[in-house]
Parts: sequence; C-alpha cells; structure tokens
Amino acid sequence: MKKIIITGGAGFIGSHVVRRFVKKYPNYLIVNVDALTYAGNLENLSDIEDEANYVFEKADITNAEQLNVIFDKYGVTDVIHLAAESHVDRSITNPLDFVYTNIIGTVNLLEVAKNKWKDDYSAHLFYHVSTDEVYGALGSEGLFTEETRYDPHSPYSASKASSDHFVRAYQDTYGINVLVSNCSNNYGPYHFPEKLIPLMINNIINNKPLPVYGDGKYTRDWLFVKDHAVAIDLIFHDGKIGDTYNIGGFNEWKNIDLVHLLCEQVDEKFGRPSGTSKQLITFVKDRPGHDRRYAIDAGKINRELGWQPSVTFEQGLSETIDWFLANKTWLENVTSGAYASYYDNQYSNS
Ligand code: NAD
Ligand code: DAU
Repeated sequence: MKKIIITGGAGFIGSHVVRRFVKKYPNYLIVNVDALTYAGNLENLSDIEDEANYVFEKADITNAEQLNVIFDKYGVTDVIHLAAESHVDRSITNPLDFVYTNIIGTVNLLEVAKNKWKDDYSAHLFYHVSTDEVYGALGSEGLFTEETRYDPHSPYSASKASSDHFVRAYQDTYGINVLVSNCSNNYGPYHFPEKLIPLMINNIINNKPLPVYGDGKYTRDWLFVKDHAVAIDLIFHDGKIGDTYNIGGFNEWKNIDLVHLLCEQVDEKFGRPSGTSKQLITFVKDRPGHDRRYAIDAGKINRELGWQPSVTFEQGLSETIDWFLANKTWLENVTSGAYASYYDNQYSNS
C-alpha cells in the first residue's frame, strides 16, 4: 500500500492533486503536509476531509523534526512535493521567504526521505512539482522543451530552479528515484486572488480597478488546474524515473486579451451590457524583471503518457468564473485580514 505525502496540499494546485488521489486511489493513504501559510486553506478540502484514506498534518517543510515524525508515523513510501512560496510579486518583496521554503525546505525534505528510505531507494519515489519559469523568458517565437537551458529571472523562479537542481542531484549522488515536472500557468477553482485570473475576477465582482502591468502584452500559457492534476497522476504512476516532463496548455494569451475575455464573460454572466467591466482596466507600473513570454512544448508527455488538456480555455474559464461566483464566502474569507494590506502594498504606488 502506498503512503504518500503530498506537500502543499492545502494550496491551490495541491488541493486538486489531493482530491484526485483521495478519490481515485482508496487503497493509498494520502498525507497532506502543509504549514497553512496565507496561501494554505483547509476549506479547499472540506469535501474530502472525512475520507478514510486522508489525513492532514500541519508541518513546515523546513522543520526536519516534524518531517521525521510524520515519515515514521505513517511509514511514508512516496512524496509528491508541491509546497512552495509561489507568487512572483511576493518574491520580489521578500526573496528570503522563497529561499527558506523553496530551497531549504526542499533539501530538508530530500534529506529526510534519503535517511528514511536508505534501505531500498528503488521502492520509493520523490516527485517534485516545478514551473516553466525556470527556463526564463521567450521572445515572440519558440517553446520551452525539457532540454531548454535554465535561465531564471525572479527570486521565485531562481528558488524553484535551485530546488529542481537539488532534486536531480539527490538522484545522481544518492540514488533516490526522482521525477520533475515543469508546468505553465494554472487557473481554476481555489486559485488565490493574488494571481492574475482570480485577482481580476475578484476585482470585477467588487467593481475595483483591474491592474494590468506594463503594456499588457506579456504572454502566458494557461492550463486548467484539474488537467495539471491529471498530468501529475500520470507522471507519478507511469513517468520514467529520473526524467523531466513539461506540462502546458497549448494556450497562449497576452494578458490584456485575457483580461478582455474575462470582462466579457463576467458581464455576460451578470447580464450587464458588454463593455461594462472593461472600463475598470487600469495600466499600472510594470513588475521588475518581468518575463515577456512563456510557452511550453508539452509534446513529450503527450507522446509518452498520452496526456493532453481536456477542456478548452473558454470552458475552463467559464467553470472558473462560475465557481468564484458560487463561492463568494470562500473569496471573502481569503481576502479578509492580511490580504488587504498585501494588496495595498502591492498596488498603492501604481
Ligand atoms: P500555493 O501558493 O497556492 O500553495 C502553496 C502551499 O504550500 C500552501 O498551501 C502553503 O500553505 C504551503 N506551504 C508554503 N510554505 C510551506 C512550508 N514551509 N511548509 C509546508 N507548506 C508550505 O501554490 P500553487 O499555485 O498551488 O503551486 C503549487 C506548486 O506548483 C508550487 O511548487 C509551484 O511552484 C508549482 N507551480 C505552480 C503553478 C501555478 O500556476 N500556480 C504553475 C507551475 C508550477
Ligand atoms: O508559469 C508558471 C507560474 O505561473 C507559476 O510557477 C507561479 O507560481 C504562478 O504564480 C504563475 O506566475 P506568473 O507570474 O506568470 O503569474 P501571475 O498570475 O502573477 O501573473 C500572470 C501575468 O499577469 C504576468 O505577466 C503578470 C501579469 N499581472 C499579474 C498580476 C497579479 C498583471 O498584469 N497584473 C496583476 O495584478
């Protein structure tokens, strides 16, 4: 029986991965290890919290003692590692938080796994969930492949790049079985409203300005979060040990075009005249070191594991907006308290 730690399971992507594994694999024990930072929220998992094959452990991945206890308590066989500081703007303000969690936390987790699994590394797997931002920025042409040279620009992407290198170093040096995947921008239910799509939805709902950085022509490749969870499931079970898999949506959007689409969809759902929400768009000062374009070549995971996105962007976005409109209490809860001061600091000098 697999006893899998999923770190960061109370966060955005982690909660979708936990839900998928708990429901699909009743014979696995899923141990959600999360420190419950501002981004972690057990409300994201209220529908599965009573399942027999699920447990939650509040723990910080930088704390070896806490991890040792959890590994022993459950006889942990595998790790799927998502816990991280994940927001680029916060990494610009507080880079050390990203060093502690993303680099030191990952190495700490690797060390605990290395010690606990030393009798037989072949029976265990450490799967590290990473980002396409490690590859840097593209011009108007080209795609990131698994062979693209690392070239991170933000403290966030530099910390994720470092953690990727450590994960691979633990395979090469100690023989731990590892897998790494690098995914493009996710969107969907439970997305914390500091990121572009949920922030814009929340501001449209509340009739607040829609802050678009710079000229708005920065480009991202968007993937529905449930499709990322499917990819993680496939890679965990069928990925080739030691390999890297790029995951993307084949779905590039300039930010300004995406914000226009969001405005139109929300206006339609609210029955407002078309163009109402677009009046809220405000161009604000740019993000320092802003990567111009990300785009993933997800050909390898498609060819080797048969994965491809299951929903169109219009469907995924519509489901996402519907979810936020139906879950206003969730939105109010996560935007109360510390969110207001974060928002003021981030956007007040714009
Ligand atoms: P998130 O910020 O929504 O969630 C992160 C979770 O990690 C939270 O529940 C938080 O409480 C937890 N956490 C933070 N520090 C911790 C610590 N020290 N110990 C234990 N738990 C801690 O992040 P997300 O958007 O769900 O991203 C999850 C992972 O996927 C990250 O590793 C991120 O780099 C990667 N990723 C994200 C995206 C994206 O578009 N969001 C795309 C590709 C890869
Ligand atoms: O590519 C994967 C990465 O995608 C993940 O690794 C990160 O964890 C995740 O946060 C995301 O990073 P981005 O920086 O691309 O996402 P964000 O939603 O912060 O910004 C998307 C784009 O929108 C980017 O070009 C900046 C712009 N933006 C963002 C915000 C929050 C705005 O124009 N205005 C905003 O208010």
